[in-house]
Amino acid sequence: MTINSITIRKPDDCHLHLRDDSILRVVLPYTVSQFARAVIMPNLVTPITTISLAESYRNEILTSCPGEFDFHPLMTCYLTDMTTPKEIEFGFFENVWVAAKLYPIGVTTNSNQGVTDLIKIAPIFECMEKIGMPLLIHGETANSDIDIFDREAVFMENSLLPLLKRYQGLKIVLEHITTNETIDIVRKYAPRIAGTITPHHMMLNRTSLFQGGFQPHHYCLPIAKREYHRLALRKAATSGESCFFIGTDSAPHLRSIKESSCCSAGIFVAATALQSYAQIFAEECALNQLEAFASLNGARFYGLPLNKGTVTLEQNPSRVLKTITIGDDEIVVFRGGELIPWSIKNNK
Ligand code: DOR
Ligand code: ZN
Repeated sequence: MTINSITIRKPDDCHLHLRDDSILRVVLPYTVSQFARAVIMPNLVTPITTISLAESYRNEILTSCPGEFDFHPLMTCYLTDMTTPKEIEFGFFENVWVAAKLYPIGVTTNSNQGVTDLIKIAPIFECMEKIGMPLLIHGETANSDIDIFDREAVFMENSLLPLLKRYQGLKIVLEHITTNETIDIVRKYAPRIAGTITPHHMMLNRTSLFQGGFQPHHYCLPIAKREYHRLALRKAATSGESCFFIGTDSAPHLRSIKESSCCSAGIFVAATALQSYAQIFAEECALNQLEAFASLNGARFYGLPLNKGTVTLEQNPSRVLKTITIGDDEIVVFRGGELIPWSIKNNK
């Protein structure tokens, strides 16, 4: 029997870039109309490294939020070599942040203040292990001599596995996982470890990046991998296993920057995220697992109450907007202009 409509508990986006100022104001409505909460990435141009920066960023998000939605931004702390255990512990107990984000220096957008060597933040790991605060990891090596398609695997081997061994109680989310091998690691070390999976990594492979010429709007980090990795990600996400959950990694950049001589990494997926996940789960005959992946597994990992409302998705093809305007520039929407088979019917 084909299912053509599904109602799930309101979901959480466990990995989201909102930026600030004018970009925040135009992208936020797309997330709040789909998700009740989101784990907000701290890699602003001035990164969110302190409690006071996190509080003012949270206020900026809340005041930019359209009034009809009850949206909860969950803040994260950007780790640097200078982060102190006190800032981490106090902010966690005061409910300022839910987690800290590790960017190895130089791996991605605004990571130039990231961690230079994991050994330098050993006291932070000890503190987080002690207080039960999750560590969110951009799992790619910062060594730019390593082939871009191998950077995730090298990080897992050289940095993650020793970290897991050393801090056996540390809770970790491997963000936007892209390989079969990383999926195996998540499965092996769950439930202390989990993995978020984006819609685009389940829809694109590395060949899609060059389809008909280089496609800057499909360039993100970690970069999409070979087809068998994409297929493994689809199987993992739709398996119902509690160690996998939504993290869209929606990462808006202006078209002028994406289409420049040095294209920034990131795909704006917020406007089509849930519709894309529903399509993938339907294609994998696993719509019955969508609620676990979207609305249960992430909340349980973070120890948060489940959301109250619901969202209904239906198999009713609709053409989504191509771009959103921002001043005299725009942001290109993932799958924008395409006929998407699933749409959001209502949201209560
Ligand atoms: O593609 C990406 N874009 N990957 C990241 O890790 C960062 C993000 C961004 O902030 O643009
Ligand atoms: Zn991200």
